[in-house]
Amino acid sequence: AHVVTAPCDDCRYTDCCVVCPVEAFYQDDRMLYIHPSYCDDCEACVPECPVEAIYAEHDVPVRWQGYIQLNADRCKVLEDKGQITIKQEPLNGPHCEEN
Ligand code: F3S
Repeated sequence: AHVVTAPCDDCRYTDCCVVCPVEAFYQDDRMLYIHPSYCDDCEACVPECPVEAIYAEHDVPVRWQGYIQLNADRCKVLEDKGQITIKQEPLNGPHCEEN
């Protein structure tokens, strides 16, 4: 599967979810996550992210390895809220720049 990592946190540009053919994206109030059971590894979302937050699981930088489990855990909790498939206003929060 592919994984959303730290650069998304507090940015949440949502360009990624629009191109996902299997609607694998979920969100909380900080960022988006990819459901590992749905992601087909098509890679369509990877070039869409302006802050390069999305990596193939085997390619996640060492410092962001924790995001692999985080994507899975958060999607389990967020599944009831439904997938995100439409572009939203970015959060542009205070942590967005720090990533
Ligand atoms: Fe996040 Fe990038 Fe998508 S900032 S919401 S992974 S386009």
